[in-house]
Amino acid sequence: MQINFLKSRLAEASEIIYTSKYTVAFTGAGISVESGIPSFRGKNGLWSKYNPVVLELNYFHDNPLESWKVIKEIFYDFFMKVDPNPAHFTLSHLQESGLLQEIITQNIDGLHQHSGSNKVIEFHGTSMQLVCTKCGQKYTQLAHLLENLPPRCEKDNAVLKPDFIFFGEGIPPLAYENSVKAMKQAQTLIIVGTTGEVAPASSLPYIVKQNGGKIIEINTESTSYTDSISDVFLAGKAGEILPEIEKLIIGKM
Ligand code: APR
Repeated sequence: MQINFLKSRLAEASEIIYTSKYTVAFTGAGISVESGIPSFRGKNGLWSKYNPVVLELNYFHDNPLESWKVIKEIFYDFFMKVDPNPAHFTLSHLQESGLLQEIITQNIDGLHQHSGSNKVIEFHGTSMQLVCTKCGQKYTQLAHLLENLPPRCEKDNAVLKPDFIFFGEGIPPLAYENSVKAMKQAQTLIIVGTTGEVAPASSLPYIVKQNGGKIIEINTESTSYTDSISDVFLAGKAGEILPEIEKLIIGKM
């Protein structure tokens, strides 16, 4: 009974995506869980092991070495070793075949790009780049910079920070502007693996709903979107659900 229910929901979702003229994917930490990256919240979430204070801007400026030791352990020693999973690859294939116009991610792990997606809006920035806290110089060759902590700018010796936003920082203006623009155009939104608890990212899906767009949500658990705005809720792992949708879409081509 439950399998038939999921099958009909998968069929519904694939038809919506196949017939939609402008589709956007909005992803959160859940899409990278099957790559081995823990989510932030929940029982095994990163914030149950580490103190998020290291990502507070003022604390970071006052305690750069202590903060960097933890940041390196979470976001560099570990993130650098992981690979995209079938959920990332499905979105990349859909983008390539013209069925997905935009990917907006809250993630900073770079896995959408590693799966082949060349157009990704990183709403919270990226860990794949460091930025000088004084002159704004960006660095992408990370390995040698991270040998001595805290990493420092080659020009002015100021401390470098990951180019993702810390608590207390604003959303990169261009990412915000492009995300709102994409959401306004979307006929269909695929929400994948986000609790929708962190503003302002959490408010983006409501733009699509207000404009009459369809919302497909994929998550192992229900969220604040599920009963409020989701038209099709697919309960399960993103790395299993998304490839199933792709198979059904290929069958229509
Ligand atoms: N497939 C789909 N969803 C999953 C999977 C999976 N395999 N595993 C977990 N999830 C779901 C969880 O049920 C949860 O709803 O992914 C979601 C992860 O939620 P969060 O950890 O809160 O991550 P996210 O919503 O991306 O957090 C938003 O908070 O700490 C900040 O800046 C950080 O970008 C992050 C933001």
